[in-house]
Amino acid sequence: MSSRKRVFDLLRIINVASCQCPAHGYRGNVQVSNTTPSKDYAFEIKCSTVRYGLGVTQEVGMDLVNLGAKNVCVMTDPNVVSLSPMKAVLDSLVRNGISYSVYDKVRVEPTDTSLKHAIDFAKRGNFDSYVAVGGGSVMDTCKAANLYACNPDADFLDYVNQPVGKGKTTTEPLKPVIAIPTTSGTGSETTGMSIFDYEEIKAKTGIAHSALRPLLALIDPLHTRSVPQTVANFAGFDIFCHALESFTAIPYTERGPAPSNPALRPVYQGSNPISDVWARFCLQCLNKYFERSVYNAEDIEARSSMHLAATMAGVGIGNAGVHLCHGLAYPIAGNVKDYVPKDYGTEPMIPHGLAVVLTAPSVFRFTAASDPDKHLEAAAILGADVTGKKQADAGRVLSDTILKYMDIMKVENGLNAIGYSAQDIPQLVKGALPQHRLLKIAPIPQSEEDLSKILEDSLTLY
Ligand SMILES: NC(=O)c1ccc[n+]([C@@H]2O[C@H](COP(=O)([O-])OP(=O)(O)OC[C@H]3O[C@@H](n4cnc5c(N)ncnc54)[C@H](O)[C@@H]3O)[C@@H](O)[C@H]2O)c1
Ligand SMILES: [Fe+2]
Repeated sequence: MSSRKRVFDLLRIINVASCQCPAHGYRGNVQVSNTTPSKDYAFEIKCSTVRYGLGVTQEVGMDLVNLGAKNVCVMTDPNVVSLSPMKAVLDSLVRNGISYSVYDKVRVEPTDTSLKHAIDFAKRGNFDSYVAVGGGSVMDTCKAANLYACNPDADFLDYVNQPVGKGKTTTEPLKPVIAIPTTSGTGSETTGMSIFDYEEIKAKTGIAHSALRPLLALIDPLHTRSVPQTVANFAGFDIFCHALESFTAIPYTERGPAPSNPALRPVYQGSNPISDVWARFCLQCLNKYFERSVYNAEDIEARSSMHLAATMAGVGIGNAGVHLCHGLAYPIAGNVKDYVPKDYGTEPMIPHGLAVVLTAPSVFRFTAASDPDKHLEAAAILGADVTGKKQADAGRVLSDTILKYMDIMKVENGLNAIGYSAQDIPQLVKGALPQHRLLKIAPIPQSEEDLSKILEDSLTLY
């Protein structure tokens, strides 16, 4: 029998949800704020306009003409600036008579210092629109540059997520951003998030606001041809964790409280039937194309499919959210010691996709009890044989499936292999705890001991 509280909650939900049309006096936040349910009862899906096709970058100049752009900032990184994606963009801008300035100093894995450098450039340029050409590092830097250039008096921490920053929302309209991803991973082209390493706390944090979402994402698989194997590999594991984490995130009806105003509904809302569609699609793509795309850059079918999957997963995470793999990845990346990955430059750094996947086997063993059937379903879509598997097996089955992918893709053998030992675990846990936005989206609440155990189990994997 339902508890009295459950019945009461349902009555309040029905009361709030009924008769919401303006003609019958629905007054948005006024009505809702008086009866805020302790759990949310609604979710929404926001997404940039997505245009996908081989060679679609050639249209960007026309898009800017259509927007009435007169002074465009093109952002990229020091490597991509000399590659074919930038050439395709600049050719299109020139063909369409667009005036532009190029900022090519984006840091791979941005920091607050590197963002501030880009923000200064944006403030000085007085741009009316932006084009971001690159991976997540470029797109995230461009979003932040736009935000602060449109709010020139803001303090840097004003918009940064709480508790690191003040988590304010911008009231100024931002300039349009066209995002052209050149890696197949982050999905940043459709999300309202900008992630960076906050040097003071040695952990990543971010700015999350739907206003940051690019207006248009041009998804052009031609750009994936030059992506080196290591980048294709780690970016692929970013998609992998986006799909698994958004699929297994707390259901939106379990996250609470409902916001007092729909504008305050968080970017990360929990799993829901629409984000589940994106996640399932991505898991299918990974099963079919991940290995092929990593080991054969000429396999345009595989690389194109992974490029689309990255965007699809972005729509999923951009609305449902990610949880423990990402929450733990932020201090793992932020406390880097001397690990220098191939194809990412010469500085020590832990690529985002590597930082997220190293804890994945342990994370999903931990979360499986929240919804064993969904964990088994994820494993099955990824190719595991789940015939006869019991609910109690779900964590181990999904974990083994993840390890199989990591083994095939020759991922480093756990946190030990990138320079961490058991002594580092307290520091990593300390860095994960402020990631409220992510930890709250996990389907099971977790203690500091739980986080320590997940990290301990991730020191060595194979
Ligand atoms: N905003 C979001 O929603 C979101 C989501 C996930 C991750 N992220 C962030 O994105 C960043 C990682 O982005 P990423 O994985 O896309 O990589 P990246 O942008 O850091 O680029 C990785 C490397 O690949 C190179 N590269 C990029 N495109 C190339 C191409 N076509 N050919 C050859 N080389 C190319 C870059 O120059 C760089 O050396 C991290 O900071 C992460 O935290 C953001
Ligand atoms: Fe990610």
